[in-house]
Amino acid sequence: MARILLGVSSGIAAYKAVDVMRELQRQGHEVRVVMTPNASRFVGVETFAALSGHTVGIDLFGHDETPGFDHLDFARFAQIILLCPASANTLAAIAHGDAGNMLTTSVLASDAPVVVAPAMNPKMWHHPATQANLNLLTQRGVAIITPAEGTLADGDVGIGRLQDTATICAAVANVATTHNDLDGRNVVITGGGTREPIDAVRYIGNRSSGKMAWALADRARARGASVTVIHANVDLPQNPAITYVSAPTADQLYTACLTHAVHADIVIMAAAVADFRPTSTTAGKIDKSTSTTLELTLEKTTDILSELGQRKSVGQFLIGFAAEAGHEGLARAREKRVRKGCDALVYNDISVPEIGFGSDDNEITILTATHEERFPRASKGTCADRILDCAAASSSGRSQ
Ligand code: CTP
Repeated sequence: MARILLGVSSGIAAYKAVDVMRELQRQGHEVRVVMTPNASRFVGVETFAALSGHTVGIDLFGHDETPGFDHLDFARFAQIILLCPASANTLAAIAHGDAGNMLTTSVLASDAPVVVAPAMNPKMWHHPATQANLNLLTQRGVAIITPAEGTLADGDVGIGRLQDTATICAAVANVATTHNDLDGRNVVITGGGTREPIDAVRYIGNRSSGKMAWALADRARARGASVTVIHANVDLPQNPAITYVSAPTADQLYTACLTHAVHADIVIMAAAVADFRPTSTTAGKIDKSTSTTLELTLEKTTDILSELGQRKSVGQFLIGFAAEAGHEGLARAREKRVRKGCDALVYNDISVPEIGFGSDDNEITILTATHEERFPRASKGTCADRILDCAAASSSGRSQ
């Protein structure tokens, strides 16, 4: 059980933090509370003081009656920080290291993992400034609980409602169990979709966005791993704490994997690698006026996952992906895991609408030699955690 610092910022959802706190206590956690000065307009300081049995931190210059207590004691107390609800203002403050009140000072003065449950008007949520702040926080390993969709107290409809208590407490439990469990591991993740050139401007490509690989990389880093991402044509913001290697074609991806993946503790092949490429690339641009048809001869690319499966050394944990469609898909995925020599295979059914390529959600089944588990539709960050759970539990780490 953990010592949880609950940071409450202002907003109509602030009263719901009482319920979250009681549930955390019911689960056996010790909870103390800091509030922003404006939060106390929405929910009483005395409520939290009575329920936590401790003074609530609200005034940086206020005096606690406990001898020796100072304004950083809340930060020292925290093993996990939960900001619930987190206003747009508090998100901006913690993203930029502002220490203007007791809550933000406590976040800045602590190295505990941070879970954020935002609640705000949908327009504020979607504003590029808020999204940029969320992105910064995600890159630093902060777990963001995406708000629910619905009608807000101000009458606007959209994303912005504080998530329910069970979802928030589950996110805290996830952080409690995964924090630093990949410390010292060297993780290599491939992502994106390769492009095989036809001529100087045209290529054979696919619809992979790289979002799954990015989520895996951010979560692996947040869990303490040293992470290298080998990416093909991904245009997503990069995390300064992660090493990125660009490999736009199947051949370049293969070479980069031989350099980086062979010695890694955990390798995750999330890239959509072209199975075939043109046997030759035309210099310049093919002139369409010379013919009404165009014939391309394609040759097979190297199956990188199979190659890595064959070269896998003792202790390395190799994970592949299988994008399959329809009810035969799972059987093909099982067969693929064995054929390609991987320890685990992440199967997703690409015939299911609204998941997979380009989407923010995924619905995965993880297959190993001894276990199969299907997970409900969730954000790619949550799916990433389930995949990393499997790797963390099954591999002891070659470098340890
Ligand atoms: N993969 C790879 N090299 C390739 C093609 C695919 O490493 N040339 C990897 C992918 O990164 C993924 C897994 O193989 O982890 C499965 O990819 P998928 O496209 O589902 O499978 P196919 O390669 O098409 O499978 P099959 O061998 O059954 O055709």
